[in-house]
Amino acid sequence: MCGIVGYIGNQKASDVIIKGLERLEYRGYDSCGISYYDPNNKKFVTNKDRGRVANLYNQYSYPDNNHYAIGHTRWATHGVANQNNSHPHYSQSKRFIIVHNGVIDNHKELVFKYLNDYEFISDTDTEVIVNLVEEFSKKLSIEEAIRKTISLLEGSFAFLIIDTENIDTLYAVKNKSPLLIGESDKGIVLGSDVLAFVNYADYYYLLEDNSFIIVKRDNGNFKFNLYDTIGFDLEVPEKQKMDFVTDELGKAGYEHYMLKEISEQPAVIRKIMSQYMVDNELKVSPEIKAMFTDIKKVYILAAGTSYHAGLIGRVYFEEIAKIPSEVFIASEFAYNEPLIEPDSMFVLISQSGETADLRSCLINVKEQGYKTLTITNVGSSTLAREADQYLNIFAGTEIAVASTKAYVGQIAVLAILANTLSKQHSLDLVSEMSRAAVSMENIIDKRDYISEIVEQVIISHDCFYIGRGLDYFVCLEAALKLKEITYLNTMGIPAGELKHGTMALIEKDVPVIAIISQDHINNNTRSNLEEAKAREGTPLIISLDNTSKGNDDIVLMDVHRLLSPLVTVIPAQLIAYYKAVELDYDVDKPRNLAKSATVE
Ligand code: M6R
Repeated sequence: MCGIVGYIGNQKASDVIIKGLERLEYRGYDSCGISYYDPNNKKFVTNKDRGRVANLYNQYSYPDNNHYAIGHTRWATHGVANQNNSHPHYSQSKRFIIVHNGVIDNHKELVFKYLNDYEFISDTDTEVIVNLVEEFSKKLSIEEAIRKTISLLEGSFAFLIIDTENIDTLYAVKNKSPLLIGESDKGIVLGSDVLAFVNYADYYYLLEDNSFIIVKRDNGNFKFNLYDTIGFDLEVPEKQKMDFVTDELGKAGYEHYMLKEISEQPAVIRKIMSQYMVDNELKVSPEIKAMFTDIKKVYILAAGTSYHAGLIGRVYFEEIAKIPSEVFIASEFAYNEPLIEPDSMFVLISQSGETADLRSCLINVKEQGYKTLTITNVGSSTLAREADQYLNIFAGTEIAVASTKAYVGQIAVLAILANTLSKQHSLDLVSEMSRAAVSMENIIDKRDYISEIVEQVIISHDCFYIGRGLDYFVCLEAALKLKEITYLNTMGIPAGELKHGTMALIEKDVPVIAIISQDHINNNTRSNLEEAKAREGTPLIISLDNTSKGNDDIVLMDVHRLLSPLVTVIPAQLIAYYKAVELDYDVDKPRNLAKSATVE
């Protein structure tokens, strides 16, 4: 979702902003823009439009001596993606300029109450913020005007504000949307994600909600002050070292991040094993184990791919740890809370650790006094910091919008957690996970074969994945992968449910892909596939060595039944990838989607 970057320093500010925005591209966006101070003409210049960040480089030139700028990638919420709605936005008199990430729920009421005389150029809620600052600055200092504005805003927001009459100061506010500060002796950079700081900061600071930041150039030095939104000083958070391996952020020779990340999955499993290995066993820490003492029910909350990992986690909690569990989609749980059983606790799963739907659940259940554990790929994220404890999945930065390696990382950590909680340590996870990593490698090595299958089989506008039990949960993920990057209408269906309605959609050439990794339902799923074949659907079977029969299309090396999702998902990821490549779509940045969904 929207990304913001701001900079004051010695370096060419437009470079810092545009490179930073490029690093934030993975979040998903449809338009972008920059405002910088041009000292030669003594004025601010704004370039913005629908389209890619690269256009900000290609279509404009920037003076070498520009040292103050803000920039934005916009994922449309209020108003279509066009130039008018792109950020930065100016206040009516053009004195103030803003970039904003988040949603202001009460923007209409605020216009009605305070801004009747203002003309709005865009359809965005953001223009309301900048005009409120302008309106209040008529009677108050700029800082007070911003504070008063914040006190009126309802919703989530992180924004940067330039006062064009003061080119030595940049104002920033953070509440419920991400914003961090990066620091080096060459300047201060602000951004929605630490990735925006790579090469431009040596250290970074994580900010709490309701922070008001004032960045100043002062005699060739750069510093920031932190306040709460009332005006009291805030303690500066602990400084974190930027320790990104820049290589990790490149494509390492792969054509797309998604293929690179698919290929990294066996390594992610091995990394997780090395991180959780204690005395030759895979375990979570005693503190995390202790959280589950006397817990009678686990609620798992997540969204999208992480929700699909959560469905598998529920099976692990019940089958391995013998703790009854339920899984909820975060945006549903947030506003339709079920009756929660006493002695329950919450496990939140999120690759980014920033998903707004999940955060609103976290705030809610914490207020009710429940224990919370986040499973995430980003240890510095909001959900990691705000839950009682967190478990890292160590997947490394995931750039492609379509999540792949985070999914297997989440499943592996859920298996380790459940096995630690099991009284009998029922799984020999060290050998089973090692075997799974080999099986994953095996199919990734044969990916050309999958690309050939895609050409022959996935030729219709619809596609169906069918499976039972754990296989069905993988079908849900498989369908999400295919639809999100190929825009083909795809569904994951419990195999036995096909005949209860969806079968009406099966006709000649419609692919029906069965995932069969569980011996006890092998024949049942095959019968359901026969029913689809009888309606001229095109069948395709993904099975394991020990469930394969005759000439199944994709046969994977055997793994433990419970760990099969780690392996069966891979051909599905590859099917989605190769189809998107064949259709010539932007694989890593599918239309309309954001990597990190920071609005509810
Ligand atoms: O960062 P999160 O895991 O909380 O994100 C949740 C979903 O938005 C995410 O899993 C989404 O469904 C995937 N990008 C799809 O591939």
